[in-house]
Amino acid sequence: MNRKMWEHPATQRNVAQLVADGVALLGPATGEQACGEVGLGRMLEVEELYAALVAFLQPKSLAGRRVLLTAGPTFEALDPVRGLTNRSSGKMGFALARACAEAGADVTLVAGPVSLATPIGVRRIDVTSALEMREAVLAQLPTDIFIGVAAVADYRPAAPAAHKIKKGAPTLSLELVANPDILAEVAARPDAPFCVGFAAESQQLAEYAEAKRRIKRLPLVVGNLVQDGLGGETNTVTLFDAAGAHPLPPGDKLEIARAIVRHIAEMSHAHD
Ligand code: C5P
Repeated sequence: MNRKMWEHPATQRNVAQLVADGVALLGPATGEQACGEVGLGRMLEVEELYAALVAFLQPKSLAGRRVLLTAGPTFEALDPVRGLTNRSSGKMGFALARACAEAGADVTLVAGPVSLATPIGVRRIDVTSALEMREAVLAQLPTDIFIGVAAVADYRPAAPAAHKIKKGAPTLSLELVANPDILAEVAARPDAPFCVGFAAESQQLAEYAEAKRRIKRLPLVVGNLVQDGLGGETNTVTLFDAAGAHPLPPGDKLEIARAIVRHIAEMSHAHD
């Protein structure tokens, strides 16, 4: 409808009555209208309607809980135009943020440099480097659940150059310093939330994932082989907790994310 029809007090009274009766509204969206005006009154896009309906039907296993996630790569500047990064697409972290929101959680997503759409209902904070990601995460605490999905760079250039590094020298050495481990830091706090880590490995997944779980003192680690998950639409993961290893069937990242959320909901309620 036209924005003036939507804004009309009679329409708003009727809408308020429907909401009071418990009816969920999908839209309206804002944008260009058939008459040439711009404003609220458009039907949501079909994909958005579909996503909202599917989300509506998901079990609300995280209702009332605050979830904080990190996702994507980090970018560690070398000079104003270059830097060190990795091939994380952010898709698994964004799918998990969406699955948490679908499950009724209040979700904040701290995202490294990726060009993915923000899932509906998710609060997003964009960052670039590991240090910025750490700052953003600490500023959002306390939370009930923290899920570190980001592929945080382990090292950053010790002294990024203020100006573009010029070519010419036959060799160029980079000095790198270790980045803080965001997940380990959050998990070690006295007010630590229920912490979930990711382990992306190229071999010996079970050994490395279990070791990560113990060293970082995490109740749950989601492990995957990089050849199965990095960058793609699908993934194959195994959940590692105190009860052992739980392989999940392979699937698209949203299905996997929903299965991980079910597991987190069961474990974190027991943890309370
Ligand atoms: O030790 P590793 O980097 O393999 O651990 C991966 C897990 O730790 C992921 O959950 C990742 O998000 C988190 N992590 C972090 N900060 C780092 C390195 C990893 O939060 N500097």
